[in-house]
Amino acid sequence: MEQTTIDGISLSLAGPVSLSLKWVGQDELLQQLLAAWMVIDDRDIPFNPRLIGKPGVGKTTLAYAAARRLGRPVYLFQATMDTRPEDLIITPVIGPDGKIQYAASSLVSAMLKGGVLILDEGNRMSEKAWASLAPLLDDRRYVESIITGLRVPAHRDFRIVVTMNEDSSTFEVPEYIHSRLQPQIFIDFPEADEELMILKENLPFAPTRILKYVVDFLQRAHAADELYSVRDGINIARYALKMMAATGKDAAELLPLSVERVLGDEALRYLT
Ligand SMILES: Nc1ncnc2c1ncn2[C@@H]1O[C@H](COP(=O)(O)OP(=O)(O)O)[C@@H](O)[C@H]1O
Ligand SMILES: [Mg+2]
Repeated sequence: MEQTTIDGISLSLAGPVSLSLKWVGQDELLQQLLAAWMVIDDRDIPFNPRLIGKPGVGKTTLAYAAARRLGRPVYLFQATMDTRPEDLIITPVIGPDGKIQYAASSLVSAMLKGGVLILDEGNRMSEKAWASLAPLLDDRRYVESIITGLRVPAHRDFRIVVTMNEDSSTFEVPEYIHSRLQPQIFIDFPEADEELMILKENLPFAPTRILKYVVDFLQRAHAADELYSVRDGINIARYALKMMAATGKDAAELLPLSVERVLGDEALRYLT
């Protein structure tokens, strides 16, 4: 594991992630995110954009795809309701020699390396956890570690994006944090043609007629404001394909069964 030393304190750094995610369609969303991160003058600073949408609309995928475009290492921090302020910054760990060592979070590792941090599902985090990020998210661009007493400044290439699920906040994100997480980029369900492309990207081995069936189902569900997502669609197609391979039965029989197995029988009303 990579180590670095700040003010005499040695930190082990978290590693970047490498995911096989590609963003398909809705190019303008990618552009909006990249624009928010741009710095257009020596006196300019980047934004800390927020991606908002229902579960499974592609928030994490968009964040990752945009981050990759910057050509910088990409780091992921999965926020939960149990995330403590120090988890976001620096935590003590027992080293192999039994001595205390310090581990930089993926966020601090990204700050030091000039990488991009995806703070995923930030809406799950408590107000206390958010408070530790306040100075990072304005023009100070640093964090303070209570445990080590260090102040860690962000590398000038550091960028952050926060994803938030629209309707599952565990805590109220405080107003002074909301105002630091701008602009807000809303992601909606894709149109049918884009949804088909997304399914093809994720399931390149699936016959188009199966994916079309799933898109028809999803579009009817979206129109009814149902929470079924592209992710659900991928699972429906994938399970139907597996059952076809296992049983030799045909898609017409197995697709409705797969819808039921993946989403329950309430979902059957969106089939023709
Ligand atoms: N525009 C898109 N391009 C490519 N894949 C997508 C897109 N939208 C959704 N997906 C796929 O749908 C699934 C859910 O996306 P994800 O980014 O995890 O959603 P969220 O973070 O909003 O819950 C993933 O498998 C992802 O690959
Ligand atoms: Mg996500």
